[in-house]
Amino acid sequence: MKIRKPLILAVFLCTVILFQQCAKKDDTAAAVATDPQPTLPATAFNYNIVYPAHIQNALLLNDNTPVDNPITNDGATLGRVLFYDKHLSKNNTVSCGSCHKAATSFSDDQQLSKGFAGGNTARHSMALLNVRFYKSGKMFWDERAASVEKQALQPIQNTVEMGLTLAELESKVAALNYYPALFQKAFGSTQIDSVRIAKALAQFERSIVTYQSKYDQVKQGVAVFTPDEATGEQLFLTAPPGVLTCAGCHAPPMFLTSTPAAPFAFPDPTDAGINGQNRFKSGSLRNIALTAPYFHNGAVSSLTVMLNGGPPGSPTFVPAHSVSPTDAPKILAFLQTLSDQTVTTDTKFSDPFK
Ligand code: HEC
Ligand code: HEC
Repeated sequence: MKIRKPLILAVFLCTVILFQQCAKKDDTAAAVATDPQPTLPATAFNYNIVYPAHIQNALLLNDNTPVDNPITNDGATLGRVLFYDKHLSKNNTVSCGSCHKAATSFSDDQQLSKGFAGGNTARHSMALLNVRFYKSGKMFWDERAASVEKQALQPIQNTVEMGLTLAELESKVAALNYYPALFQKAFGSTQIDSVRIAKALAQFERSIVTYQSKYDQVKQGVAVFTPDEATGEQLFLTAPPGVLTCAGCHAPPMFLTSTPAAPFAFPDPTDAGINGQNRFKSGSLRNIALTAPYFHNGAVSSLTVMLNGGPPGSPTFVPAHSVSPTDAPKILAFLQTLSDQTVTTDTKFSDPFK
């Protein structure tokens, strides 16, 4: 009898400890051996393209690449793997590529995107094209991230989108067998941390540049616009006196400006926007015909709906964006010349886990 009491006590204590361990068990899903491995080429793809002159000149003036994070082929390759790796979300269900789908020009065809637990994002996803040309480097519709690098860690920590802490991110990435070699190639050592993860993601994102559209062929003198496209370009570049042109806010050749004239289009009283001014940035209009729906809230379903919103005062009118019924088809024809399907199909931008 004398020996039994401590034994019962010990069993009891063990049960309590076991129970506590279970109760506080983290629900962050670990990687398992059967998880898919990335398929990568023996020699890295080339992410350092010399663009045609009309693009290269714009890059010289606007490039937001910091001196300590130039694009290298191995850095962008690591960034590509991270971009499509679902281990970067809490329960291994969502990657950057889930909301920025290559097939829709790194945007989402849904008005709002679904995060790792099924919750909706607050705004419409943005097309990750030509981010390198946004001179100020400020990211998000409300420009709250100061650079592409700073932006990259925010979705990972967002409680709706990917739901990890930076410590969880680092230990999950470090536990995957394919990463040490990729970090070694990209940064010269196998050290894995969030600064390097952000840098690699930013390199991959900056490499996504459209330069092979009909518009680009016309600018290089190897194709010609149809009469409607040519008229549409003129309408885009010019406007009646006193009115801002489309190009005033969406400057060619990448069709963006990171210092657009106030007042911005489409003020939204329900969303604080940039500096609490209810206004929003516009990324590149390249591939715009492929990235519906539109605007920060995804409320405009198509370019036709936007252009044909009717006269000022009508409920569907979009300020600065609805034009006359005769101009609408011509501007639409011009906008369609900005589509470059190569970024949506090129293997170097595609999901290496598929
Ligand atoms: C659950 C969906 C979702 C996931 C996952 C996601 N994003 Fe986004 N992304 C969005 C939404 C929505 C916005 C716009 C949010 C806003 O402006 O408030 C956005 C905006 C951005 C922007 C700003 C682009 C610009 O022109 O200002 C960048 C860059 C970006 N995401 C990169 C990433 C990267 C890198 C990852 C992975 C680490 C990622 N996103 C994961 C939905 C997502
Ligand atoms: C005063 C500046 C300004 C003018 C002028 C302007 N835009 Fe915009 N445009 C913006 C801003 C800012 C946004 C993003 C607003 C938002 O999301 O609420 C935008 C959004 C867009 C979008 C949707 C982009 C997306 O990613 O969803 C298209 C397409 C567009 N503009 C085309 C045009 C065309 C065509 C014209 C001329 C008829 C024009 N814009 C004139 C500032 C302007």
